[in-house]
Order: sequence, then structure tokens, then C-alpha cells
Amino acid sequence: MIKFLDIYNQDKKLHRTILTKIDKLFKKGDFILGNEVNLFEKNFSKFCGSKYAIGCANGTDALTLALLSLNLPKNSEVIIPAMTYCSTAFSVINANLKPVLVDTEYLKSTISISELKKKITKKTKVILPVHLYGSVANLSEIKRIIKMKKIYLIDDCAQAHGAKEEISKNNIKSVGSIADISCFSLYPGKNLGAYGDAGIITTNNKFFYKRIRKLRNLGSEKKFIHELVGLNSRLDTIQAIILNSKLKNLSKYNLQRQKIAKYYNQNINNYKIKKIKYSKYSVYHQYIILVKDRSKLIKLFKEKKITFGFHYPYAINQLKVFKNDFKNRKYKNAEILAKESISIPIDPNLSFKQIKFITKTLNEF
Ligand SMILES: Cc1ncc(COP(=O)(O)O)c(C=O)c1O
Repeated sequence: MIKFLDIYNQDKKLHRTILTKIDKLFKKGDFILGNEVNLFEKNFSKFCGSKYAIGCANGTDALTLALLSLNLPKNSEVIIPAMTYCSTAFSVINANLKPVLVDTEYLKSTISISELKKKITKKTKVILPVHLYGSVANLSEIKRIIKMKKIYLIDDCAQAHGAKEEISKNNIKSVGSIADISCFSLYPGKNLGAYGDAGIITTNNKFFYKRIRKLRNLGSEKKFIHELVGLNSRLDTIQAIILNSKLKNLSKYNLQRQKIAKYYNQNINNYKIKKIKYSKYSVYHQYIILVKDRSKLIKLFKEKKITFGFHYPYAINQLKVFKNDFKNRKYKNAEILAKESISIPIDPNLSFKQIKFITKTLNEF
């Protein structure tokens, strides 16, 4: 069987070090916002090239905390892509703001720039692009669009740890250092994942940094001094230990994902299969292909014991919870992704034999 993702195999060389560190933590006892949390915040901001980082409980909270920190009027509009994980939309609603959907680009996973321009109104206060599948949204173009407007840029980097964008000639930056505030999920299956829920927020802005640090800890920096109504959304020390160890492998594994993607790009050649265009420095959290007869391919994958995924089977407007909210609106490209996409294995430790077998199966389909 070809596993979709094999976290055990990815991390097995780190297990002993992690266990030793956890054993030390049992004796030390700083389970809440302990030293390893500070260390991970330092290490991760260095990795992204941002000034500050704030650990939190998960990626959904990272987005909610970032939005809350802006202190916007209720129902201010936040532009998000129509194809993303539900959390992007839910965080907007949980921060008392209004999500406005914009279609994705045709045969890309990121927000359409021409459609985005049309949706900006006086009420738009935030643009929230998502670097879906590790492919980076056109941040420099979005920045240009909102330059003279009072609109913030928050990016959802849940699937893009280590992805980069060429901001200008010879100026390549990592996501996490480009937007006003960047939000990462560290869910186990992500390119950098904990052994449970975890998230982190990065920013170059000291004001946001200080506010988010308080907001994630019930509005408090000093014990019993609650200056804001916040969440209990701290990154716990055990997860920080795991993340500090795993961060060391992230660049190596991202490179392996890029190599596998390059092989798929060059060798999957079947007129029944459409490939999407990823950004230049994508970190390929998922590698997706589009097929009209998806159920037939699913059957074949099952026969050949190739595991697969869907990211995601519904566009945001198609989610049950939103059945009355985005009626009569079409988000054509996002809906194509929902209907026709299938995610194929791109675990960094796939063998060349396995990659070839997946490609051969697709070419013979
Ligand atoms: C694009 C995107 N946004 C947000 C999230 C939410 O992160 P979490 O599951 O850590 O809350 C995820 C991951 O699950 C995601 O893929």
C-alpha cells in the first residue's frame, strides 16, 4: 500500500530526542507557556524572517486571534477565497466580521486577483488570501491593490510553511514575513505538524504582536491582570518541544516535496487529467490533479492500493452551514476544484519506485 502520509516514518529519527526532552519537562513542570514555547516562537520567526511569532492552540484560533487584534467594527468585510478549509470562513464569523467570497483563478488554487478587485467595497477591511496546497497567492499584487486603502492583509499560511514569493527582483521572502499578520496551523498532517493541535502567528508589527500575545492568554500578559477579553489559546509546552525538533527537518522535507512535484509535473501525461499551476516557490502541501470521472479514478486507486484525499470536496459556498448565505452566486473555479480534484500522495519519503508507480497508474487511467 502507498500511504498518503507517513508521519511516523518522517519523524522516527527524532523520537528519542523528543522523549528525553519531555521527560525533562515532567521534572521541570512548566507545562503552560514554558521555555520551549518561547524558543519555538524565536525559531519559527527566524525561519520565516519575521520579527515576532506568537504560538497558539491551533490554526483556526490563529486566524481568529489575528482578526480580533485589528479591533474592527462589527460586520466589516473580510475577503476570502471560495476554496479553502472551513476554518478560514469560520474564523471571520467568530471574530464578528463578514466573509466575502472570491473565486479562485482558473486551474490554480489561489484567489483570483481580477475578481478580488471587483469585491472591494468601503466596508472591506481585510484581504485574507490562502496559500492553498502550499501555492502562494499573489501577495505583492494584493499589496499593490490595497496600498492607499485602509485595508489589512492577513494570510492563511496553514498549508505553506516555508513557501516563498519573489516580492521584487532578487527579493524573495518567506510567507510569514510578507503580510501584516500571518497565520499557521501546526495540525499533525501539515508540512510542519505537532502531535496534536497547535498554531502560530507571525508579524513584523510590534503593536499587533503585543495585542495577540495578550489575546491568546485571556487578555493577560501578567497573571491576574486582564486588559482585554481574550481566548484561552496557548501553544502547550509539550507540542513546542515536538515542533522545535521537527522544525529542523522542514526545509529538507519541503525540498523533497518539490522534487516529487517536479516529477509529477513532467511525467503525468494523460489527456483525461488536468494539472493545476502552482506558484514558483510552492511547498506542495498537497499535489492535486483534476479528473472529470473522479469515481472511476477512485476505484482504480483502491485497486492499486494508492491512498488519496480531497482538499476539499465542498467550496465554502457549498458548505451545509452556509446554504442560505451565498445563494445564487457562482464560484465556478472553486466548484471545479471541489468536484474534480483528487489529492495524490506527496509524502516527502515516498520512494522513487512508488512515485513512478503512481504516475504509471495515472497515465494508464
Ligand atoms: C487553509 C487552512 N486554514 C485553516 C486551517 C485550520 O487549522 P487548524 O486545523 O489547526 O485549526 C487549516 C487546517 O486544518 C487549513 O488547511
